[in-house]
Amino acid sequence: MSGYEKTVLLTGATGFIGGRLLLRLLDQGIKVRCLVRSAKKFEAMFPGLDGVEVMEGDPARGSGLSEAMQGVEVAYYLIHSMGSARQKGRGFIEQDRKAAENFRIAGEKAGIERVIYLSGLGEHQKELSKHLSSRQEVGKILASGSIRTTELRAGVIIGSGGAGFEIIRYLVERLPLMIAPMWVNTRCQPIAVSNVMDYLLGCLTTPETAGRILEICGPEVLSYRELILCYANIRRLKRAILSVPVLTPKLSAYWVQLITPVPNGVVRPLIEGLKNEVVCRDNSIRELIPVELIPMKEAICTALTEVEKGPGGIPSRQSCFLHSLT
Ligand SMILES: NC(=O)c1ccc[n+]([C@@H]2O[C@H](COP(=O)([O-])OP(=O)(O)OC[C@H]3O[C@@H](n4cnc5c(N)ncnc54)[C@H](OP(=O)(O)O)[C@@H]3O)[C@@H](O)[C@H]2O)c1
Repeated sequence: MSGYEKTVLLTGATGFIGGRLLLRLLDQGIKVRCLVRSAKKFEAMFPGLDGVEVMEGDPARGSGLSEAMQGVEVAYYLIHSMGSARQKGRGFIEQDRKAAENFRIAGEKAGIERVIYLSGLGEHQKELSKHLSSRQEVGKILASGSIRTTELRAGVIIGSGGAGFEIIRYLVERLPLMIAPMWVNTRCQPIAVSNVMDYLLGCLTTPETAGRILEICGPEVLSYRELILCYANIRRLKRAILSVPVLTPKLSAYWVQLITPVPNGVVRPLIEGLKNEVVCRDNSIRELIPVELIPMKEAICTALTEVEKGPGGIPSRQSCFLHSLT
């Protein structure tokens, strides 16, 4: 049990990160109020889930916020508009900017004290992709008023249902030979989704994380090429990657869209972001919230086991060779 007794507000409960966090919060005996765009979608995802309040609203439109924030001190901000069918022609950058502004303004009025936001890693000096700079801009907007904001920055998150992991999974499962652009050589530092949960939860009871930007990563730094081949190795699939300088991010995004079921609006900005190294430069989080970091191979195996339980999974548990962990 966490010892946190107030109700927390959770946004993004119908998403990859928010849905998992919801279950972890409830498991810790924490009272949760979810702000979702569709209560019907939420009910379909969590049928008969007890101990949770569900309210409808939309930060991008500014609806439902003040009601959902009543009596709340801490809110989790786990939403983004990439790939959203409701963008209605407006780009995700503008939509995410508006949502963050509305959320901060409503939060200040309602007396919210803290916001915990999961953002994207990326080097500050170099030119960031539109997606990564939008994620970091949202952090700035949330923190620009009186609410003490914790911005956790992560790179690739390994977990079934996560966009980055699913792209890798479908590419490796379906393509014996990958023709890839030079980004396959960019370095990344993937983190297991359950470690992300540890940190998101840990922020709630660690006041020293308030008002800070903290980077979160797993224990290994490797290139995307190594990550893809590591997945293939765990699945005992013989795979080869040929990197060619002529393949533009736009072209490779089209190609990834053909192979994977990840929505187009998500693939494009993610592929564009692969040029940016996503490696932790600052490990202060490890002292603030000490957690046992899960090795990447173990994280991939856990994700594959979850895939097997879900609908439409490709690998079976037997095909995830745990002995390849050694
Ligand atoms: N997945 C990763 O590998 C990864 C890596 C680093 C950082 N992150 C960060 O983690 C956070 C959560 O990402 P995710 O992977 O969980 O995304 P996701 O699975 O695509 O879920 C996005 C969530 O945002 C909600 N949403 C979008 N627009 C909204 C709006 N206007 N009002 C209310 N809800 C809205 C969606 O609700 P609907 O169901 O109504 O569409 C959904 O619940 C993001 O900030 C992301 O940048 C993720």
